[in-house]
Amino acid sequence: MKKSILITGGAGFIGSHVIRRFVNKYPDYQIINLDVLTYAGNLENLTDIETKPNYKFIKADITDETAIDKVFADNKIEGVVHLAAESHVDRSISDPMAFIKTNILGTVVLLNAAKKYWKDNYDGKLFYHISTDEVYGSLGEEGLFTEETSYDPRSPYSASKASSDHLVRAYHHTYGLPVVISNCSNNYGGNQFPEKLIPLAINNIKNSKPIPVYGKGENVRDWLFVEDHASAIDLIFHKGKHGDTYNIGGNNEWKNIDLIKLLCKIMDDKLQRPNGESEKLITYVKDRAGHDLRYAIDSTKLQKELGWSPSLQFEEGLTKTVEWYLKNQKWLDDIVSGGYQQYYQKQYVTR
Ligand code: NAD
Ligand code: DAU
Repeated sequence: MKKSILITGGAGFIGSHVIRRFVNKYPDYQIINLDVLTYAGNLENLTDIETKPNYKFIKADITDETAIDKVFADNKIEGVVHLAAESHVDRSISDPMAFIKTNILGTVVLLNAAKKYWKDNYDGKLFYHISTDEVYGSLGEEGLFTEETSYDPRSPYSASKASSDHLVRAYHHTYGLPVVISNCSNNYGGNQFPEKLIPLAINNIKNSKPIPVYGKGENVRDWLFVEDHASAIDLIFHKGKHGDTYNIGGNNEWKNIDLIKLLCKIMDDKLQRPNGESEKLITYVKDRAGHDLRYAIDSTKLQKELGWSPSLQFEEGLTKTVEWYLKNQKWLDDIVSGGYQQYYQKQYVTR
């Protein structure tokens, strides 16, 4: 019988890359994608694998205890890779409650189901919780986040993710639930919802609209290609030490303004515009409330213990990413019509 693995949030950005990797690489696993399809969930992300025999989609909310219990009972789940979350910091500032519900309560509902269905035999079971580097707070000019860095979340999003991490560890220590956690830096690549910096900027440059840069553009993020995050997740799921945490990062720090300028250069080239044309669209806007200055990950543990390393240099990854959005015009256009317009107006025009 195939081993059933439940992947939550598989219709989202990172989840869809993880689903694709697992479905293609592990024909002996039954991969169950559980997603409620919020504004960020899009089954178009998975059209290439949706008919594979080892893939199944279930539309359900992770906060719905009855539905989640039924999924565990019906499918004999042996492993969970938990990605479903509200993930955008700006939305957490305008609507924290959605983050509390999904990221905290939803995680507890899943933990309870795993505990209930696995309690007689934890052998071969694993609850893998996907988290973020934002739980560690904000760095100054120097230093890196390690697995020992104290938690210091500073936005409703990061506080909700920190809370879920603590709960996952509590279920390990209190009930012996086999768990593993990873905390990753900023991902980029195809299929990312264009509310996040890189796809938003690509879309605006393409349409010759202003590129909104918060504050002075001096905040620093550590960018990792999404398929490299998926490869780390694969490795940690199969080889990670239960009870442990692994940091995942690209060793690739960029000030927002420098990243945007590089993106403008790549876009000018791809759109055959005169050099410097796209940079004229850069527009400094009001800063994000409580905007964390700098994130940077030390992923030595993952590299040394499990032999992981990122596969792409940033310029190559960013070029591939730009090519993906230009090629997948319809994917982007479908998203940026309708509800997205209202979000965009509220976020950028009335600030
Ligand atoms: P995303 O917003 O693109 O996708 C989230 C998915 O979760 C969507 O498909 C959505 O429909 C689903 N979902 C949301 N609420 C749900 C609910 N109540 N029940 C079921 N499904 C629900 O997010 P992403 O950027 O792909 O992030 C995935 C995970 O990785 C999150 O846990 C996030 O915290 C973490 N993470 C993201 C990044 C990043 O740079 N994007 C970095 C580190 C960690
Ligand atoms: O570090 C990991 C985190 O990275 C993940 O946990 C989150 O889910 C993910 O959304 C991301 O959070 P950020 O807030 O860092 O990503 P975002 O793309 O929203 O912003 C990146 C940087 O760019 C940040 O400093 C804010 C800035 N920014 C963002 C937007 C949307 C702008 O200057 N202008 C913008 O319009």
